[in-house]
Amino acid sequence: MSAPKKLYLKTYGCQMNVYDSERMAEALGGEGYVQTDRPEDADMILLNTCHIREKAAEKVYSELGRFRGLKADKPDLKIGVAGCVAQAEGEEIMRRQPLVDLVVGPQSYHRLPEMEAKTRQGEKALDTDFPEEDKFERLKARPRAKRGPTAFLTVQEGCDKFCAFCVVPYTRGAEVSRPAERILSEARDLVERGVREITLLGQNVNAYHGAGDGGDWSLARLIWALDGIDGLERIRFTTSHPNDMTDDLIEAHGQCAKLMPYLHLPVQAGSDKILKRMNRSHTAESYLRLVERIRAARPDILMSGDFIVGFPEETEEDFQATLDLIDAVGYGYAYSFKYSTRPGTPAAERPQVAEEVKDDRLQRLQALITRQQRAAQDAMVGRTVKVLFEKPGRLPGQMVGKSDYLHAVHVQGGGLAAGDIASVRITSSGANSLGGEVIDTSAPVDSAPA
Ligand code: 5AD
Ligand code: SF4
Repeated sequence: MSAPKKLYLKTYGCQMNVYDSERMAEALGGEGYVQTDRPEDADMILLNTCHIREKAAEKVYSELGRFRGLKADKPDLKIGVAGCVAQAEGEEIMRRQPLVDLVVGPQSYHRLPEMEAKTRQGEKALDTDFPEEDKFERLKARPRAKRGPTAFLTVQEGCDKFCAFCVVPYTRGAEVSRPAERILSEARDLVERGVREITLLGQNVNAYHGAGDGGDWSLARLIWALDGIDGLERIRFTTSHPNDMTDDLIEAHGQCAKLMPYLHLPVQAGSDKILKRMNRSHTAESYLRLVERIRAARPDILMSGDFIVGFPEETEEDFQATLDLIDAVGYGYAYSFKYSTRPGTPAAERPQVAEEVKDDRLQRLQALITRQQRAAQDAMVGRTVKVLFEKPGRLPGQMVGKSDYLHAVHVQGGGLAAGDIASVRITSSGANSLGGEVIDTSAPVDSAPA
């Protein structure tokens, strides 16, 4: 038997890319590939790329440049680019970097085996179509191997919102939801293989409208169906748009015990003028009211958000409105970015904010959210939370996992294994994680708001 071929697969960007990378590895696994974390051992190098900001896209080209030496030593090495840069730039990638053999867009991963075969014939392979067939069904089933306690599951792809700064509607296409039964059977299969927490993924996950039993299913309906799967203990979803936060989903946050008290709900900015120019179709006020309603349903929910500073024509006053909104919400987590011009998007053509102004605003915004994140984490000290343990920590006898609120938690000893859920009393709050001690697992968990 010949030695397996080796695949070096590097993932950039969001969790949807992480999910896609797993599926690509499985598709190529069917062709005899095993993964390696050493590019120098690889027979194929595949970069699963992100196009959301300029820096992310440029990283791909500098990474590709680094493989030139490897390809010179090993002419059989095939190099591929997948993901959103592949979708956005297509053939241009091969022109700019001739050592690339294969370019595959996010909707065509199921065609990877044929494409790989083509490259073995010495040809270049390019596929950035939005094909009719369902890539999820065409991809080989996930292998039946046991797996870790947490998993991503893509339920929806694409976006119809067309925020003025964003490439996603162009790179990932229109909103498409997977049929509910396929998601449920994938979830059941994951649970049989040891998964206890599933994060439902979608560029606009709460715009989910999948065909299901009795008609069109909302995300809330899907969550309630997942709630009925024995052995599945935790459900999360990301990323949501404020305008799709429907009543049934808010209600599920109050009533579905498996739905975790954490919500990533990007607002992007706090000035109504900027929100309008961003084409967000909500105001700062409507967002704040929405957060109030969500907190009325689930008072201890930890809010998370995304922010862009230096969007075209953002004034100091507009920026101050973003800081005010952050103050008003109190985020447990937040991700912030300098506006990055993306060719082909409406905002790219508008008057730009100077780079040093963006830098200054980003620093000020990050200082505020770091304080808030830290306060939310510190407020956990003294509380008892449930933790799903994922892996051993760096110290002997240490286990690390995530609380319901997604804080990393480490404990010492306790005979725990990956996949165990235990009640933990939080005793310390460090730079990036909480420390605690496992208490009697039958002890009540304090889920009162911090
Ligand atoms: N510039 C900066 N940030 C962006 N995002 C999306 N497009 C851009 C851009 N052109 C951010 C948004 C989004 C997150 C995934 O990335 O905040 O919510
Ligand atoms: Fe991009 Fe806006 Fe769609 Fe989110 S909602 S993916 S930011 S266009």
